[in-house]
Amino acid sequence: MAKYKMIIDTDPGVDDALAIAFAALHPEIELLGLTTVYGNVSVDQATQNAGYLLDLLDQKQVPVAKGEATPSVQTPHNFPDFVHGKNGFGDIDVAYPADFKPVDEHAADFIVRMINENPGEIILVPIGPLANIGLALKKDPSIAHKVKQVVIMGGAAHVAGNVSPAAEANIWNDPHAAQAVFEAPWPIVMVGLDVTYQTIMPNEPMERIAAAAPKVGGFLQQICAFYAKFYRNVAGFDGFSLHDPATVMYVTNPELFKTERGQIEVVKEGSGAGKTFFAPKGKMYAEDYWSKRDNVEVCLEVDKVGVLALIEKVLVTAQ
Ligand code: BDR
Ligand code: CA
Repeated sequence: MAKYKMIIDTDPGVDDALAIAFAALHPEIELLGLTTVYGNVSVDQATQNAGYLLDLLDQKQVPVAKGEATPSVQTPHNFPDFVHGKNGFGDIDVAYPADFKPVDEHAADFIVRMINENPGEIILVPIGPLANIGLALKKDPSIAHKVKQVVIMGGAAHVAGNVSPAAEANIWNDPHAAQAVFEAPWPIVMVGLDVTYQTIMPNEPMERIAAAAPKVGGFLQQICAFYAKFYRNVAGFDGFSLHDPATVMYVTNPELFKTERGQIEVVKEGSGAGKTFFAPKGKMYAEDYWSKRDNVEVCLEVDKVGVLALIEKVLVTAQ
């Protein structure tokens, strides 16, 4: 029996594709569903991309539930086509499966139902803006007591943002939902830029993965080439950040990360919108406001070599 029953909420997206491939191929993960959200691309594109990836990975039995098209409160930001391409797959030509259809259930309803049907078992892994997760909580706040764990790609505790000096993209794309998610009484792990800026995949492992697994690895290598171009232009190095895959890897290999527990508060509006303030547990501040909760384990350090070895080990097992 699979050890980890997982739902991934996603906006594929190049690094989302790597994360989904890792989850689908990992022998201890049972992927119970993909829920889709706008973010890197529109929700319609994200849903098609999710269907494509499951087909590619021979996982067509995994349901895809389409979710929110826009943020819960703010007006949407533009899609970052310069990072992931207009189609989210680095603008390579993709033959979408003609027979793919998302399930007839909204992503938030799917999440609520699955958590209620599997109390204490579901690991929810949001790797896009938190609109669906915020909505699921609104529909049924009791899921906070029934989920096993919520492992989020998002935020930045002690480092700068990637879409503004303050904010990481997923939180910035729906800071109101993010605040609601961080203040719900469920156990959260925040896998943010503190660690994902450090998990940089050079191009060589992608070449090895493509050689070992031409169908899946070849596709991933192609889309990663576009993503790597963005990093070369903006950050000036060869390779790319494993934001979303590192988040799934936390579930199977938490020993690769060092965390500190505490409270996260999200700035919802203004030039700092999307900033995640971290108040470590036990630290005294002037106001009690900063010691209201300690439900978030914030990842602060990562074994980068371990993460790179792990993703390669799992992805080479593809076709
Ligand atoms: C996050 O934003 C998206 O561009 C990536 O897919 C990842 O989820 C990184 O900030
Ligand atoms: Ca993502």
